[in-house]
Amino acid sequence: MDSILVKGNGALSGTIPIAGAKNACLTLMPATLLSEEPLTLTNAPRLSDIATMTQLLRSLGAEVASLQDGLVLAMSSHNIANHTADYDIVRKMRASILVLGPMLARDGHAVVSLPGGCAIGARPVDLHLQAFEAMGADLDLRDGYVHAKAPGGRLRGAVVDFPFVSVGATENALMAATLAKGTTVLKNAAREPEIVDLARCLRKMGAQIEGEGTSTLTIQGVDRLNGATHPVVTDRIELGTYMLVPAICGGEVECLGGTLELVGAFVEKLDAAGVSVTQTERGLKVSRKNGRVRAVDVVTEPFPGFPTDLQAQMMALLCTAEGTSVLEERIFENRFMHAPELTRMGAKIEVHGGTAKVTGVPRLKGARVMATDLRASVSLILAALAAEGETVVSRVYHLDRGYERLEEKLRACGAQIERIRT
Ligand code: UD1
Repeated sequence: MDSILVKGNGALSGTIPIAGAKNACLTLMPATLLSEEPLTLTNAPRLSDIATMTQLLRSLGAEVASLQDGLVLAMSSHNIANHTADYDIVRKMRASILVLGPMLARDGHAVVSLPGGCAIGARPVDLHLQAFEAMGADLDLRDGYVHAKAPGGRLRGAVVDFPFVSVGATENALMAATLAKGTTVLKNAAREPEIVDLARCLRKMGAQIEGEGTSTLTIQGVDRLNGATHPVVTDRIELGTYMLVPAICGGEVECLGGTLELVGAFVEKLDAAGVSVTQTERGLKVSRKNGRVRAVDVVTEPFPGFPTDLQAQMMALLCTAEGTSVLEERIFENRFMHAPELTRMGAKIEVHGGTAKVTGVPRLKGARVMATDLRASVSLILAALAAEGETVVSRVYHLDRGYERLEEKLRACGAQIERIRT
């Protein structure tokens, strides 16, 4: 298994191009199953999760061509040859459940294995299933698979009131509703930029959708959708991660393609911690206002709140801040697995349930640490860049799920980082 060696060496400066959003691309790709005509995505990120979704779509009979070094995904599902999403692929990635809505909506039946993914809590799919049931689907859970059927071959519009906000359930229900008979109203829907991006793409395909970016989505079902070409929105989590590089190491980094509206709540916390962020013509420029950063308290929430996917990286920063910060994780119940690893690097962290108390130290120290999930792994890289001495991060396959060309992007800012292939 590969590891990454980092030598902490002070301030880092330069420009970092930000890729298209992994999480947007993972919901835009299954949208190809809604139409007989081609769907082309541009600005796609080059990640192992995208390769997994490609494999899954191909197993269902879709054609997926990766063009221009993976930046363009040309997809086409003239017909769905196989309606079963197999355990062997689905277990690798939770987002695989997003093929259920489109297949069920287009052909009236689908069988999908219950998903796997990062080990950051129980992460059931009950909300997805509740939405399909409200739209008239008969569901049967057998042998680890969801067997779904729409009576008469077509879902019907319904009012779905989600008990709490779920990004995936909103996406799955939104895609399904585009081809349902009648009107669907999704209440307490997620408002993430990736959902806005999905709604825009579906509209280009001929879907009738109102309210994206608000907590109520209204969808008027249509009989068929056409093809489209759509650019994937900028990855706000990759953006936020690289914005933390000058915050934790010093220096100045410009993140190309970044916009303030993608990272509003995160920027507020950076500002309070003593980090300056300015919008330029090309992106966001970030540097420390002066000296050491200050402690801030953080609570993770659905968008537009502080994203759970930036909590681990923010914790790495706060490990070196002046004072004590409290981080409260409200989205996932088991998302502090990076804390013991950061502690190996000299951080002072106490975890009690969903809350972590972090007392900043002037300098972290290099150590051997282990990546446990995608965002946890990158928080260890950030900490390592700022630490004194060498750090070896093992199990870096997690990183390849969400960060393309990480070492290259960081080296361009002066980082000493290399992959050790084993
Ligand atoms: C998506 C993102 C993930 C991000 C998360 C929250 C993708 C591919 N992944 O994940 O990176 O961390 O949003 O911003 O877009 N839940 C249920 N039942 C359900 C669905 C969810 O109990 O049917 C719970 C989850 O366990 C979790 C919470 O709801 O505690 C939010 O999960 P959700 O918003 O659905 O996250 P994902 O769509 O899986």
